[in-house]
Amino acid sequence: MPLVRFEPSGKEVMANDGEKVIDLVKRLHLPLESVCGGRGTCGRCRVQVISGDALITDEDRRRIKSDELSSGVRLACQLRTDDELIIRILQPHAPSKHVILERTDAKLELDPSIRSVKVRVADASIAAPTSLESRFLEALGHKGIAPARMPLSMITALSKAVSEDLELQVLLRRDEVVALGKEEGKGAYGIAVDVGSTTVVAYLMDLLEGTELAVHSQLNPQIEHGDDVISRITFSITDPKGREELQRLIIGCINHLIGECSRTASVPLEEILEVMLVGNTAMHHSVFGLDQKALALVPFAPITTQALEFKARDVGIHVAQEGYACALPNVAGFVGADHIGVLLATDLDELDKPTMVIDIGTNGEISVGDRRGIVSASVAAGPAFEGGNLSSGMRGAEGAIDHVTIGQDMGLEYTTIGDAKPRGLCGSGVIDLVAEMFLSGLIDRTGQIQASRDPSRVRKEDGQMRYVLVGGEETADGQEVSISQDDIVQIQFAKGALHAASEILMERRNVQVKELDSILLAGAFGNYVNPVSARTLGMFPEVPLDSIKGIGNAAGAGAKLALLSERKREKAKRLARGVGYIELAAMPDFEDRFFSSLYFPHAEASKFPEALSLLRKGK
Ligand code: FES
Repeated sequence: MPLVRFEPSGKEVMANDGEKVIDLVKRLHLPLESVCGGRGTCGRCRVQVISGDALITDEDRRRIKSDELSSGVRLACQLRTDDELIIRILQPHAPSKHVILERTDAKLELDPSIRSVKVRVADASIAAPTSLESRFLEALGHKGIAPARMPLSMITALSKAVSEDLELQVLLRRDEVVALGKEEGKGAYGIAVDVGSTTVVAYLMDLLEGTELAVHSQLNPQIEHGDDVISRITFSITDPKGREELQRLIIGCINHLIGECSRTASVPLEEILEVMLVGNTAMHHSVFGLDQKALALVPFAPITTQALEFKARDVGIHVAQEGYACALPNVAGFVGADHIGVLLATDLDELDKPTMVIDIGTNGEISVGDRRGIVSASVAAGPAFEGGNLSSGMRGAEGAIDHVTIGQDMGLEYTTIGDAKPRGLCGSGVIDLVAEMFLSGLIDRTGQIQASRDPSRVRKEDGQMRYVLVGGEETADGQEVSISQDDIVQIQFAKGALHAASEILMERRNVQVKELDSILLAGAFGNYVNPVSARTLGMFPEVPLDSIKGIGNAAGAGAKLALLSERKREKAKRLARGVGYIELAAMPDFEDRFFSSLYFPHAEASKFPEALSLLRKGK
């Protein structure tokens, strides 16, 4: 059992012989990026072996330069502990800065499931020795609330409260008494939670006033089992304790955020009566501990698509004893409750003119619709647009290059998040970079890097071209920031899938590009991406720039709307039932459209006149 010590934390652990270093990292809950979930393909889990023997694997050779290999750099997911080791973590997880914590502008309709009433409980008399519970229920009946249900804890609380005062404040969730007491002004609060694969955001809302009191976010701790949903589903299936572990992590995160919100707003946990959750179908299933195996297998059928409501305690969420944990309904295996949240927040089903909504997170969901109907699809587009799986990709954290321009003289300028030394490229930076490379002639319409346009920045490595933005001497971690031909292919695949999906959905709704009123981009990506760059690459149909709008965290906004309104919850159910879900893999023309969409901006360039005119102007 070799001893392994990690720097800079100094934490130590006894490893089992041959145990992988990445598993030790998880055991100690140390921060380390593992975008591919330990498959050895992302190259993000770099550690440096300071002391001890560390074999070099083929994956190490593929992902790590030879001078770094000689200085002990290895992939933690490939490194096994056969010997005592001292290891330095090189790629800690940085908290995402591209999290939208602003308050929603959406009209918050107040129609909560919780109501507060005051009652006076009659004294018992010798002539009518009616039970305390009956007298209490009768008092509620006088207020028009009958029949009301009393859980055991409320019967217990009733006798205690009445022993002090016969005037009570009662909080009911529909017909169920969920809190009561003698105090005046007992609050009724709820938490809306957007359970993103990368980031979890919680909003504390006053259910009786409709106001937002606090918001907190945290990196989804499941990330230690892979950045992408598929890696986590795989873990939940292949590890006998995988499902329980993922649920433990996400419930811990939700409880932490609830605690933070409660402290910030000085709201006691026992006054938080409802939690409304949205998330993609995999996150939804993980929160409720449901088997995710079916989500990984054709036809990707979820365990349930229903709106869920359980006692929060049954799910392990710490709020009021009789509080509830609810979730909006899912549409399908890869169009989840978070997209229903987006549809609620945008009122897509009430719009007069056809509108496209794109939510690019770790996975991408896209809908086209108006009051005549909505069609939706899921697109495997997310990781590349979030900087994942790219050789210098990273999330929108400090040091991420988030905007890039390439001048006429091929001079490159960039900005980084936090104005910090560059560490990598986040989604908005990648989109800018590829668009600028295209407009500068550094890549052609097929995506091939053209070394002759700037030989000083392009080199050939491992048989493929690589364009270097920043040399290792100028970066925060000594690693150059660059984009390879393979990275560009990943972007082509992602944008090709998104554009092909947009065409299929528009065709299904019989909508022409010129009829689209707007394209709404939800999520952090939508807020930070440069619409000119996204349009130039042909990520979605070419519409006027002022028709492309970032709408912020619409999934979170939808969760808040549902938390505050029973009518919105009913609408969410109607939306989930009524949305026409299209499985792109089953569409015969998807492949052709996809291949045509791999070109920049498209094989039929005439579909993108604005992008072509930018190209003609040249850089
Ligand atoms: S290469 Fe190790 S986690 Fe991806």
